[in-house]
Amino acid sequence: MDDKLKTFYELYDRRKSIREFGDAPVPDDVLSRLLNVLNRAQSAANRQPWHFVVIDNKDRKRFNETFTKEGFKKAPIVIVACADPLQAWVRKTDSRNYAWVDVSIAVTEMIGAATAEGLGCCWVAAIDAQQVKEIVGIPGHMDVVAVIAVGYPVVELKKEEKTRKPLKEIIHYGRW
Ligand SMILES: Cc1cc2nc3c(=O)[nH]c(=O)nc-3n(C[C@H](O)[C@H](O)[C@H](O)COP(=O)(O)O)c2cc1C
Repeated sequence: MDDKLKTFYELYDRRKSIREFGDAPVPDDVLSRLLNVLNRAQSAANRQPWHFVVIDNKDRKRFNETFTKEGFKKAPIVIVACADPLQAWVRKTDSRNYAWVDVSIAVTEMIGAATAEGLGCCWVAAIDAQQVKEIVGIPGHMDVVAVIAVGYPVVELKKEEKTRKPLKEIIHYGRW
């Protein structure tokens, strides 16, 4: 494996969910690169059915009440990832709306980039979406897919064993 490939795979070895953050802020240029990754992500029919609300920790008292884990309150940045079902591509054969899929792809790519920047993230789904919408002023028809806590981790990001199903349990070749 050449060095570029190794660097790529090591990124995903290092990534893990981070729930405790240090005091260091996320520099503006780093944040800007992450937001560009969100914007460049692929989406069904290139509909880009998403909006992202970036909230720093200067005025987050009310928002922080939506977190059940204390560690998230210290994240220097949280990003609320919202899906717009009215903008999304819909699969004709079964009417599946791809808004959540598209938003999840963008967020996943951003988390990869954040990991490369030495940042840690946690995807927080266990929030009260209605409360988040109200606090942040998100329009009624939008869905809150995720709140992403972003910041410098207090632990080192390094390769660790993961609790995962064995490949042979989930991969099917040719036929289920
Ligand atoms: C869709 C989604 C929702 C998640 N929601 C939460 C959450 O509400 N709270 C939390 O602490 N972690 C949450 N996580 C993090 C997962 O618990 C974590 O990804 C999983 O345990 C695997 O660990 P790893 O990310 O360190 O590899 C979520 C992850 C995903 C992908």
